Amino acid sequence: MRLTGGLGPALTPTSLAERPIPALVATILQGRYGTPMPGWQGMLDEQDALWIAQQLQRGFPEVKQP
Ligand code: HEM
Repeated sequence: MRLTGGLGPALTPTSLAERPIPALVATILQGRYGTPMPGWQGMLDEQDALWIAQQLQRGFPEVKQP
């Protein structure tokens, strides 16, 4: 809800600044094997994942970053 992590890592603009967009898209679609991060391929297409990755790097305005 706040994107600051817990079960997963923080998904704040600061923590994602160095991540290439295609890597974020791949993580969102395929998940990370061997971690709790599931793949969302069945629910999201490439465009959706790209949009989410860009929003996360920019910072959703409604989420207060610590
Ligand atoms: C649509 C919902 C979700 C999105 C968009 C999302 C997105 C992401 C992204 C972009 C990363 C990579 C972060 C990085 O490279 O630093 C990540 C990692 C991770 N996520 Fe998610 N996530 C979602 C849901 C979840 C859920 C439901 C869980 C656990 C139940 C989870 C657990 C994790 C974990 C453990 C990692 C780190 C994997 C590793 O160690 O490499 N995520 N997530």
